Amino acid sequence: MSGAVKGLSGLKTRELGRCHIHLETVDSTNDYLKRRAGELCHGASATASLQTAGKGRLGRQWLELPDKALALSVLLAGYTPAQLGQLPLLVGLAVSQGLEGLTGLQIGLKWSNDCILAEKKLCGILCESRILGNQVWTVVGIGVNTQQTAEQLCGLNLEYATSLFLATQKYWDIAQIGGEILNKLEEILDIYALSGFSALKTAYSERCVTLGKKVRIVDADRETLGEALGIAEDGGLICRVDGQEKIIRSGEASVRGLYGYT
Ligand code: BTN
Repeated sequence: MSGAVKGLSGLKTRELGRCHIHLETVDSTNDYLKRRAGELCHGASATASLQTAGKGRLGRQWLELPDKALALSVLLAGYTPAQLGQLPLLVGLAVSQGLEGLTGLQIGLKWSNDCILAEKKLCGILCESRILGNQVWTVVGIGVNTQQTAEQLCGLNLEYATSLFLATQKYWDIAQIGGEILNKLEEILDIYALSGFSALKTAYSERCVTLGKKVRIVDADRETLGEALGIAEDGGLICRVDGQEKIIRSGEASVRGLYGYT
């Protein structure tokens, strides 16, 4: 089945995006779906032309200009708290594959799930959950920089960011990007349901630009240096720190390269 709804086009999914809400303005598409969890079904999605309080990881803001970026969130039911460490990586894999298929650009992943193009950030992902009764609802939020110019990104103090427009000198159809991301995400979540994280770990690791690098691990009150060695079964980043192996969990710390953003 294929179809177009406002905010999404080229959808070939069974469930994801089949119930879709496009909002002209909203505080945050993630918060919108979290508020409506339980009322909307698994796979419901939301996009917005403008988010007035877009949220990033680790309590940061996510800044955007009207109609210059994709702001997409999807509501998922049935993931256990233990799977929530793996899910961000799977979403990153789906987004990078979807964007690569559509644009032909080579897209890497900075652990845990930033999509990277030429060492700059193209897309950020924020996974959040809400428990209602005995059901865990997960909201996956995806922000892709699509149409911004270098001046617009600098104006938002996003010097480390890039956009599809900057890379290709072309304005992309934001709805088509959203549709393709959901197509890929459903494909990846199907593999995950059938064969588990291990079936996708190699594909993730091959794209992960963090692995093999010396990194700065930044948490609330300190910064440590380490070397990124691999991806753990729970989605954590295995690092060597002070001669010892340690697993860093997404949500607890951010990891930066020693030189530049990645
Ligand atoms: C990050 O890199 O810090 C994560 C950014 C996630 C941004 C997206 S945009 C759609 C959704 N709604 C939000 O408020 N945040 C996510």
